[in-house]
Amino acid sequence: MFALVQQISAAMELGTYTTRSEEETIELGKQFAARLKPGDVVALYGDLGAGKTEFVKGICAYFHVSQIVSSPTFTIINRYEGEDAAHHHVTLYHIDLYRIKSPKELEEIGLAECAEEGTAIKLIEWAEKANGTLPKHHYSIHFEFSPEDINTRRIRISYDEEPQVESEEEKILV
Ligand SMILES: Nc1ncnc2c1ncn2[C@@H]1O[C@H](COP(=O)(O)OP(=O)(O)OP(=O)(O)O)[C@@H](O)[C@H]1O
Ligand SMILES: [Mg+2]
Repeated sequence: MFALVQQISAAMELGTYTTRSEEETIELGKQFAARLKPGDVVALYGDLGAGKTEFVKGICAYFHVSQIVSSPTFTIINRYEGEDAAHHHVTLYHIDLYRIKSPKELEEIGLAECAEEGTAIKLIEWAEKANGTLPKHHYSIHFEFSPEDINTRRIRISYDEEPQVESEEEKILV
């Protein structure tokens, strides 16, 4: 008897959305947040003003965070406390790597340790500056301005996955 296992490794596309106001981006963040669990990492990519922090505001609204959510550009890491739908306490780290200039600075802020923290949800703006310190499994959210209108954004959500069992067949050799 042997098992035939086919493996796939891919970024799983969860959807591309168009929002036409900051409120719609906040709402999308709120809807997305329902799938988040403690330990998850969300990498946010996009130019200045593309909507990353608005989306984070939506995630924090879902978790009933009462602190003011703003871009942690000067502090690098903000910590918020909230709760999930079952009223379990949730800690969220909101990280902005825009000002990071070297791997040494990443080390100084303790990004790798923070990203591995199993009980908190980590939301990382300018994640391209994380320079390989993100865990293999994480959500990626890409924000793009649209030529259509100054308030329109295209937001693509995906999840980077480990090789996964796609199909499994058991065959009995006679
Ligand atoms: N559809 C939209 N979604 C999100 N924000 C929008 C939208 N339309 C207009 N805006 C405006 O764009 C700005 C987005 O700002 P935000 O702080 O979220 O950007 P950011 O990607 O976090 O930038 P930074 O890299 O500077 O932190 C806000 O001023 C918001 O009002
Ligand atoms: Mg921001």
